[in-house]
Amino acid sequence: MTMNHTTLRQLFTDFWKERGHQEVPPAPLVLKEDPTTLFTSSGMQPLVIYLAGANPHPLGKRLFDIQPCIRTQDMDKVGDNRHDTFFEMMGNWSLGDYFKKEQLSWYFEFLTKVIKLPKNKLHFTIFEGDNMVPRDVESAKTWKDLGVEESHIHYYGIEANWWSRSGTPDKMPVGEIGGPDSEVFYDFGTPHDERFGKECQPNCECGRFMEIGNSVFIQYKKIGDGTLQELPQKNVDFGGGIERMLAAINNNPDIFETDVFSKIIKAVEDVSGKKYYENKSAMRIIADHIKASTFLIAQGVKPSNKEQGYILRRLLRKATIKFKNLEKKINEQDIMAVAQSVIETYKEVYFDDTTGKIVDNEIGPEIFKFTSSLDKGLKEIEKLIQLKGEITGKIAFDLYQSYGFPLEITEEILKNKGQKINRDEFVSEFNKHKELSRSASAGMFKGGLADQSVQTTRYHTATHLINQTLTDLLGSDVSQVGSNITGERLRFDFTSSRKPTDEEIKEVENIVNKKVEEGLDVYYKDIPKDEALKLGAKSFFKQKYPDIVKVYFIGRERFKTVPYDVYSKEFCGGPHVKNTKEIGKISIYKFEKIGNNIYRIYAKNK
Ligand code: SER
Repeated sequence: MTMNHTTLRQLFTDFWKERGHQEVPPAPLVLKEDPTTLFTSSGMQPLVIYLAGANPHPLGKRLFDIQPCIRTQDMDKVGDNRHDTFFEMMGNWSLGDYFKKEQLSWYFEFLTKVIKLPKNKLHFTIFEGDNMVPRDVESAKTWKDLGVEESHIHYYGIEANWWSRSGTPDKMPVGEIGGPDSEVFYDFGTPHDERFGKECQPNCECGRFMEIGNSVFIQYKKIGDGTLQELPQKNVDFGGGIERMLAAINNNPDIFETDVFSKIIKAVEDVSGKKYYENKSAMRIIADHIKASTFLIAQGVKPSNKEQGYILRRLLRKATIKFKNLEKKINEQDIMAVAQSVIETYKEVYFDDTTGKIVDNEIGPEIFKFTSSLDKGLKEIEKLIQLKGEITGKIAFDLYQSYGFPLEITEEILKNKGQKINRDEFVSEFNKHKELSRSASAGMFKGGLADQSVQTTRYHTATHLINQTLTDLLGSDVSQVGSNITGERLRFDFTSSRKPTDEEIKEVENIVNKKVEEGLDVYYKDIPKDEALKLGAKSFFKQKYPDIVKVYFIGRERFKTVPYDVYSKEFCGGPHVKNTKEIGKISIYKFEKIGNNIYRIYAKNK
């Protein structure tokens, strides 16, 4: 059977909705509120605080999502049949609600009944236990009760069947949460398949088995004395890559032959004039890296020399060099053509008509600059290959400075020739340079931002105005699904059965600014929940509220006793400004679709 990604998304969505789960809108690839990592790299990352049990999630205890992720640690592995830097993780969660039995039974039902994978092709792995955490007998029993044969159940230790963001318990920092997991593998071979190793088992790298889903039972937290403590709330964190699930449905172990890659590979073939089956590794790298780059650019990342921007630059440059290896004279048009095929592949899900232009505008100058010195840079590397011994960090840094060759790329080319670079020296050259340029630009930040907390309070009140205005303009099916506020901007996510037009978004901005100008009072009252609901105060999602709730009103002070006439009323804990004048005029500078019927607005002060 083959299936396209649109169908798989729908089946997954319907399945979890039917089981009482709410859809969490995808988080951006760059999570500003989580400075510990560069990118969102798993579906659970935006949910960490809720999994730790500190706060209830506004959407409830049963959640699912399809989350775009970037895993830079897998960048060097791209080129085989299964690794990619950008992927989408389908996930479902129980936040202290159901646990192992329900999770494994439902997932089994999804695999065997919904996407109809043959039972004899599935293998199941389980945590075998160690001196800190007991063997996961409950998962084993559940799989057996579901009819899984003993020979398809495999036990592994902490290295294979434990999950936390940092890895095994010894690597977890104090405060991090994690737990044992049970993974499902798809078997692409047959019992005596000569293409694969004789001793092959699910965690073998020979290519026969592929992990298609991981149910993590997050129930521990690392504490100060280095031991694991049971969390008060036991959670399920399931994640499975869309790409790998499609490969299993197709019964073809190459994720690059599923329809989330086929158009992109075709574009690489067209541009290079070469065939995929003769150049698989290079073409996989090109397709994956340009895909990841397109998503990053579409979300506002720009190529630069640091952090996310540097990764983007590395991805684009590596893709360019790989094109060059296909003996192709490469230019920015070629990369743009492949990026367009990425947009084409995902346009129904993530992109709109403006994305193409945004992506071209970044890729054009970036690749133009790099390709104009690419030949010279490659010649310099050729010279290095003739040198004996370790390459100094200074030489590698010059190559980066003059020809734009990121360290990792030079390193990889040289590694294939048996040479290596002194990394420490490179880093110290790099830092020296950074300090120089930093002192040159010092002074740029004089003055600084207005006090952060004052500014975030202003933006918070602005989200209430936006929420009300959107409902007035688009109808009552508008509902807020999230917001995120920093000192620099506000972000507001909402559902709507149709996409608002650019004019409507402009109108929202105008009305909000009118309300700012009118100088409306902002005040709250503690009232019984039923009364607040009767008043029509906006409440959030499916959140459980106490009997007495705080409702924020925006309106004229003189209507304080008649709160029916106010502009906005919302269940909210605050804090807010006292008068809308304090907010100042705002401008909505970005508006995008982030999911099925889910939209996102960014706004900041003018
Ligand atoms: N957190 C787990 C993973 O990333 C499952 O969602 O694999």
